[in-house]
Amino acid sequence: MKISFTGPDLPRSGAVVVGVWEGKVLTPAARRLDEAAGGVVARALSSSPRFNGKKDELLPIIGPPNLSASRIVLAGLGKPESPDPRSLQQLGGSLVAHLNSAGEEEATVMIDVAEGAPIGQAEAGAEIAFGAQLRSYSFDKYKTKQKPEQKPSLARLTVATGGTGAAKRAYQSLDKTAAAIFLTRDLVSEPANVIYPDTLAAAATRLAELGVDVEVLDEYKMRDLGMNALLAVGQGSAQPPRLVVMQWQGAENSNGARSRPLAFVGKGVTFDTGGISIKPAAGMGDMKWDMAGSAVVIGLMQLLATRNAAVNAVGVVGLVENMPSGTAQRPGDIVTSMSGQTIEVLNTDAEGRLVLADALWYCQDRFKPRLIVDLATLTGAVIVALGHHRAGLFSNDDELADRLVEAGKAVGEQVWRLPLAEAYDREIDSDAADVKNIGGGRAAGSIIGAQFLQRFVNEVPWAHLDIAGTAWSTKDAPTVPKGATAFGVRLLDRFVSQYYEKE
Ligand code: BES
Ligand code: MN
Ligand code: ZN
Repeated sequence: MKISFTGPDLPRSGAVVVGVWEGKVLTPAARRLDEAAGGVVARALSSSPRFNGKKDELLPIIGPPNLSASRIVLAGLGKPESPDPRSLQQLGGSLVAHLNSAGEEEATVMIDVAEGAPIGQAEAGAEIAFGAQLRSYSFDKYKTKQKPEQKPSLARLTVATGGTGAAKRAYQSLDKTAAAIFLTRDLVSEPANVIYPDTLAAAATRLAELGVDVEVLDEYKMRDLGMNALLAVGQGSAQPPRLVVMQWQGAENSNGARSRPLAFVGKGVTFDTGGISIKPAAGMGDMKWDMAGSAVVIGLMQLLATRNAAVNAVGVVGLVENMPSGTAQRPGDIVTSMSGQTIEVLNTDAEGRLVLADALWYCQDRFKPRLIVDLATLTGAVIVALGHHRAGLFSNDDELADRLVEAGKAVGEQVWRLPLAEAYDREIDSDAADVKNIGGGRAAGSIIGAQFLQRFVNEVPWAHLDIAGTAWSTKDAPTVPKGATAFGVRLLDRFVSQYYEKE
């Protein structure tokens, strides 16, 4: 979908969207349109008792004969003093869905911001455009037989606003965010015969064009480094594992020395059958998106680079395919991780933590980062606990946890903190090795997974985001069509900017 910005003139074709404040109060643009259209807006309002002008309300009106626009859409804006970036994004997204279902190809959005509102006119226009762009995403490259009426119709969205230059500038940065989110959604949506460790590593390698320093470690290099926990997960697969390291160095100290980076580590299980502890057949196809954590890290690195962010960040993703075969690891196997700790693998389906054990250790050992945040579709149990509306957050550092919670609220990617404690840690003591990869039963599965990870981080402030419930959605939301959500990209982007602001 093409997005552009123009001045506040009424369009000559397509749909025109104007705002109505709560209590059926017409915005200036709505009043101008009402005059041009012979009072049709006021009439539609008075004959629509269910439309009040509250947020999320939309009222379509067929374009009257004296107006060249095909359609008018009244958009509820809520109270004049209430618009914020998030609600404007959601408005943009809902409009795209509405106009697509109406079959419109072209639309002009004229949303006024009241004097004294907490957001300016230009910025508001940019946020609407951003939300619209996010909702316009679809992964349809394998649909070869779509009829025109099955495809999204809306091809052009124009935001008509005062301060066109400022709106364009504000949108430039948001457009880069949208592009990073689309990269992540694409990688997560691709099936596992297309995206496997080597091809996912190749996708990350493309970031080199943007100035990201990318290294790909193969299975031999990982063997040398002692990453036997990660390698054990991949040993049943015909696809060899990879570990990708992405460095973005946008900040330099005044003395020229590179300052320690913020680190992001992602689980990249390109397909999770469960291995010998095999999963049931129903729903197993979902496990193509068991690499969502790594795709978020790759998207974040692209975003920092395209925005030329003045930050130092490193992304590490562990890429493996978890398959059952004659070479697969067995329940009961004991492996020595890079940290030197031995792990008794009692369930080969608890594989993400094995991958992260080595990726986390390697990351902190090599980069001495200021902090580490890992993202992983780690446990089904986090879906039982929080459903699909919050990701699980675990941390050894209250300030880091608070910052992640705040960043999540601001962008609408919410996280909810769950505990870590010695009593849970006792449950993964092994009779045969230093640690086992599952607890005794089904209780507190997400916490057990997080406790396992914590054994592989030392003094560094660390947070773990369990995104198993939020990485994929079966329902449309205003700015997130169903499918891959890219949950985490916006949260971490916000977190990184705020971290450097507060410095
Ligand atoms: N990738 C799964 C977790 C998952 C489940 C992600 C549903 C997305 C949706 C993970 O590797 C896994 O299999 N976890 C097991 C852990 C158990 C064996 C301790 C689980 O959640 O059942
Ligand atoms: Mn698994
Ligand atoms: Zn998994």
